[in-house]
Amino acid sequence: MLKGKKIVIGITGSIAAYKIPLLIRLLKKEGADVHVVCTPDALHFVTPLTLSVVAETPVLTKPFNEEDGSWHSHVELGISADLMLIAPASANTMAKMCAGIADNLLLTIWLAARCPVFFAPAMDLDMYRHHTTQRNIQTLCSMGNILIEPKEGELASGLCGEGRMEEPEAILGFIQQHFRSQHDFAGKRVLISAGPTREPIDPVRFLSNHSTGKMGYALATTLANRGAEVHLVSGPVDLRINHPNVQVMPVNTASEMFDACVALAKQADLIIMTAAVADYKPAHPASEKIKKSERDKLSLSLEPNPDILECLGKNKRENQLVVGFALETHNEIDFARQKLYNKQADLIVLNSLNDSGAGFATDTNKVTLLDKENAVTELPLMLKNEVAEKIANRLLELLGNKSVTGSELAPE
Ligand code: PMT
Repeated sequence: MLKGKKIVIGITGSIAAYKIPLLIRLLKKEGADVHVVCTPDALHFVTPLTLSVVAETPVLTKPFNEEDGSWHSHVELGISADLMLIAPASANTMAKMCAGIADNLLLTIWLAARCPVFFAPAMDLDMYRHHTTQRNIQTLCSMGNILIEPKEGELASGLCGEGRMEEPEAILGFIQQHFRSQHDFAGKRVLISAGPTREPIDPVRFLSNHSTGKMGYALATTLANRGAEVHLVSGPVDLRINHPNVQVMPVNTASEMFDACVALAKQADLIIMTAAVADYKPAHPASEKIKKSERDKLSLSLEPNPDILECLGKNKRENQLVVGFALETHNEIDFARQKLYNKQADLIVLNSLNDSGAGFATDTNKVTLLDKENAVTELPLMLKNEVAEKIANRLLELLGNKSVTGSELAPE
């Protein structure tokens, strides 16, 4: 599976660097083409000679060769790699990554990387727990980097707790799983809606909600990484996505989102509506700014927006899978089940505003999956990109069942 895959390993200054030669050996046994880049501090913990012997490639530490003055590109490895792994990832390097600092070769390669990037933090317990480190880890994940969580155990300081880098065998497992799943959505066309809608009251004001688009964008990135061709119909958000498999259609209002989704749904194998669509819009938006009046109350008359999910669910083709989200504050399961049936969806992903860390704006989510067979699967609190992976795995099962119904039951 890893045969010929170009894997760049970036090593930073942490005692866990001593485990990397073993990881390189495991990768080489699987046929990977391994290239190593070290920060200056990494060289206190592991020697370039050891690394280059096991990797069978020169170890890079600087963008130039001090002996003969020759220069090698400081970005080439990032551009050409199939996968980059930063392990161990120190608190210092993660902070620099978040800030876009490029003061060593590893960081310039990471900034130029076009491939998926995994990072495996390693540090002392209190450094790991520190708010800044936790925030930086979340920021890196929200940028699309994939976290290999550290484990609890004995640490170099003598303390015991979180911060111990994942073991080389397990890191190999993550890399293998990545390449295994890379193509499991190949050939699938996916339509995703994300973010809020804005319903104009007048030229300067609108009705909207707190959606940031993070959940929808995480799903778009995950499915694109797994080979799908994704059309992302996005309400106004601050996120950007730069993936060859993702085309973004920006919209503002629910009506615009409806038109874009209906047009794109015809081609889609899979439809996922994560957007928080405004249920109502002002019936008569003013063409000029509404002026404040000291005496009068202002009443807005609202009319319903089209329900996109309901329309797509009721008109779905055979073998097309339709997934809705439900955001609830009470009677969560009952309301979600009603949505599943009323909107004729195949799966509802329920998130509740009663769960801390779930729903709008956070980098995490806690969801429950409800399907037509009445199966209810509750997932723990996870980062939104991890939730996206779990949803993708469930969709794969459902797509498998759909194609069985379509092809195996057809007369010969
Ligand atoms: O964007 P984030 O900040 O990451 O937050 C993610 C999220 C909380 C927005 C997301 O996880 C979520 O729950 N999205 C659905 C929110 C919502 O509007 O739920 P609802 O129960 O009102 O709608 C149910 C389903 O119908 C949703 O799939 C919605 O996209 C769809 N819908 C609703 C109204 C409408 N007019 N058209 C629709 O298609």
